[in-house]
Amino acid sequence: MNYASSSYLISYCLPDPFEVLYLMDEINNPHLTVKALRHQLYRTYEYTDYQDLSFDSTYIPTQYLSTGQYRLLETDHRMVIPMHSPIRVLIASDDVLHSWAVPALGVKTDAMPGRLNQAAFIAVRPGVYFGQCSEICGANHSFMPIVVEAVPLDHFENWSSLMLDA
Ligand code: CUA
Repeated sequence: MNYASSSYLISYCLPDPFEVLYLMDEINNPHLTVKALRHQLYRTYEYTDYQDLSFDSTYIPTQYLSTGQYRLLETDHRMVIPMHSPIRVLIASDDVLHSWAVPALGVKTDAMPGRLNQAAFIAVRPGVYFGQCSEICGANHSFMPIVVEAVPLDHFENWSSLMLDA
């Protein structure tokens, strides 16, 4: 078989990569939906499956960091999610273009004013996942960390009931 016919075979048998991208973008039956709304100084997380579970999250200034906390990566409130569950994040902004980017979860989605973007992921192991804004958005661009904490389901249920009581 010559080179031309083998490359024809490969391109004929493989699915269209754009079609695969669009198929992967579809989000089916997420177990939990979290809306991340970016403001210039903080981010609001709304757990829309619950009636009243939302909180603001912002970076911790250097002088308030505890030992072991990462400067400009830690937040005062982490986004807690159950591991092994399909999570949908709805991402928007109320001022300028930002981004919700957590590389270890494979998510990097722009937060745009006037548009609701969505992203999906599953955290396959427990842990703390760090991310940052990845659109140059202004003077505070370096101060917009994202922290996702993936925990076992029963821990998540404890956390959510504590947050609802608070
Ligand atoms: Cu927000 Cu860069």
